[in-house]
Amino acid sequence: MLRFLAAAAALLAQDPHYAGKAVLKAPAGYRDWYFAGSNVGIAYSPEPGRDEFFKNIYIQKSAADAFRRTGKFPEKTMVVMEIYKPETNASPAKRGQFQGAFVGIEVAVKDKTAVNEGWAYYKFFDEPGKPTPTAKAFGKAACWDCHEKHGAADNVFVQFYPRLRDKD
Ligand code: HEC
Repeated sequence: MLRFLAAAAALLAQDPHYAGKAVLKAPAGYRDWYFAGSNVGIAYSPEPGRDEFFKNIYIQKSAADAFRRTGKFPEKTMVVMEIYKPETNASPAKRGQFQGAFVGIEVAVKDKTAVNEGWAYYKFFDEPGKPTPTAKAFGKAACWDCHEKHGAADNVFVQFYPRLRDKD
């Protein structure tokens, strides 16, 4: 019974929690969720060297399973994008980059009770490495438009996340 309650509580903890209308609390424990993939240097500015970060993508296991079955993400899906600065001093290796200082997380949440357009977008840092406990959803034009237009499935960039993109 206790084990069942603990499992139920852990699953509930993976739902979005709000401090107000479209004001999301930072998700806890997301590193133990389903790891969808990572990438490096995908940037919105064309200049090389700017915004070139490592990113790790996590999603609730239940949402990943539902997507793989149906091609849609269920309500309350949260996709967490964790951002790290690249570090080059990988001694004793002579070259290569690894994930250095933690920058912060951005989160996409499918919740039509939060925003009319269905997916809301949040950023949990003002300055790199200084996480904020809550974040307010951005306006539709700032994030949703690009995601809707270019994300391969249901607003999400699954084309870049092997464990959602590939069949096996
Ligand atoms: C010009 C297009 C564009 C805009 C505008 C944009 N994004 Fe993204 N976003 C991307 C791309 C491309 C990815 C793929 C992964 C990456 O960037 O590393 C992505 C991935 C994400 C993810 C991971 C989940 C997913 O949907 O794939 C989150 C969370 C996210 N962006 C948050 C935001 C937030 C917050 C904003 C607004 C402040 C924003 N994005 C604006 C292009 C965009």
